[in-house]
Amino acid sequence: MRDRMELLHKLLAKDGSIWISIDDNEQAYLKIMIDEIFGRNNFVANVIWEKKFSPQNDAKWLSDNHDFIIVYAKNKDVWRPNLLPRSEEMDARYKNIDNDPRGVWSSSDLTARTYNKNCDYPITVPSGKIYNPPASRAWTVSKEKFQELVTDNRIWFGPDGNNMPRIKRFLTDVKEGSVSLTIWKHTEVGHNQDAKKEVKEFNSKSVFETPKPERLIERILTLGSNPGDIVLDSFAGSGTTGAVAHKMGRRWIMIELDEHCHTHIIPRLKKVIDGEDSGGITEAAGWKGGGGFRYYRLAPSLLQKDKWDNWIINKEYNPEMLAEAVCKLGGFTYAPSDTLYWMHGTSTENDYIYVTTAQLTHDQLALLSDEVGNNRTLLVMCTAFRSRAGGFPNLTIKKIPTSVLSKCEWGHDDYSLQIENLPIAKKSVKKQPGLFEEEAES
Ligand SMILES: C[S@@+](CC[C@H](N)C(=O)[O-])C[C@H]1O[C@@H](n2cnc3c(N)ncnc32)[C@H](O)[C@@H]1O
Repeated sequence: MRDRMELLHKLLAKDGSIWISIDDNEQAYLKIMIDEIFGRNNFVANVIWEKKFSPQNDAKWLSDNHDFIIVYAKNKDVWRPNLLPRSEEMDARYKNIDNDPRGVWSSSDLTARTYNKNCDYPITVPSGKIYNPPASRAWTVSKEKFQELVTDNRIWFGPDGNNMPRIKRFLTDVKEGSVSLTIWKHTEVGHNQDAKKEVKEFNSKSVFETPKPERLIERILTLGSNPGDIVLDSFAGSGTTGAVAHKMGRRWIMIELDEHCHTHIIPRLKKVIDGEDSGGITEAAGWKGGGGFRYYRLAPSLLQKDKWDNWIINKEYNPEMLAEAVCKLGGFTYAPSDTLYWMHGTSTENDYIYVTTAQLTHDQLALLSDEVGNNRTLLVMCTAFRSRAGGFPNLTIKKIPTSVLSKCEWGHDDYSLQIENLPIAKKSVKKQPGLFEEEAES
């Protein structure tokens, strides 16, 4: 996990946060390891999620019914969680006993925990009874402020005007939400069985082992992100994070090592996009469908070292894979021709690329040059060649892996090979991209 946490730390936005779900067996070790990477001062909380609600009476020791969610900020000084929406239960605590035209209110204590001489004075309530602050405490407001509040009908003395005074807080004045607690009950955020039911909706045969309920991820994304933000789940599993992020208007990236990508994640997200997933938070989020995603499969590394420490093309690469990879690196669109063996890709209408592991002789190149003709140019990527430089005006000849190596950036933190995400616009490349500018004679 250390390698992954180091990468995730680098990747995380300056004002971002990371939320890691982990069970009781590993949480203490994980916490200490993350302390080392994020710094103890950026630790936010270790949330307890009640993942099960019924006791397992056959448990040998204790019946474990919670997991942890370890929360760190990239920088705790700048990161603040959002508030949670107020629940109906919270709002129901507000009443209007005195028919105040300002609406429902609830009362709170007028005494402060610390002593302040300015706020220590006797208060005579309407019934005539006199109240003083409790021992070693004071009121929360000065005498003048108290009078202002009384005049504004913001002090409550009880139905008979005989109680210790309290401050009226109107629902219209309270914050737009509530601060999250660190214990999350299954009644608020769902439990394991909820999550399994959600997974069954799109894969009834193989219910994923450890899915998370959508409401749990909704809580995390509410606290830790805003619409339009990018949410990354590098251990996507059944794809709950992406599904919830999508429904909540966040952009998302999911990474998965296993086949779950095909068996769970892609089918799930397709249903979400088509508006056919009625489970999880769909109704609460008012989700109707829309949006899309792109899917990439990570190829094996194109280059590897041989036993003499020389860079060679990875043996896992067959000729098609190699041609496609070299096209991508060189900014060519991979479009192999059915009829012309040398036409593997194109950058402009008359500009083509040929990728081969062969060593090309002068005669072979001469033949190729003839076939390409005067109206086309061809970039030839081969392992070695014999020819005089500039011998064929319509051919540019380069060697792999040398030219691929020159595209690789060594010793950098950032990985700057571009993966184009946007629809591919027509290119107007006037010259070969920089990658192919250097050349060495064979
Ligand atoms: C506990 S599951 C995640 C469950 C997920 N939150 C859900 O709701 O379904 C962890 C997932 O991480 C995947 N995984 C493990 N190591 C990985 C790696 N190095 N890169 C990408 N995925 C990995 C596993 O295949 C597994 O599907």
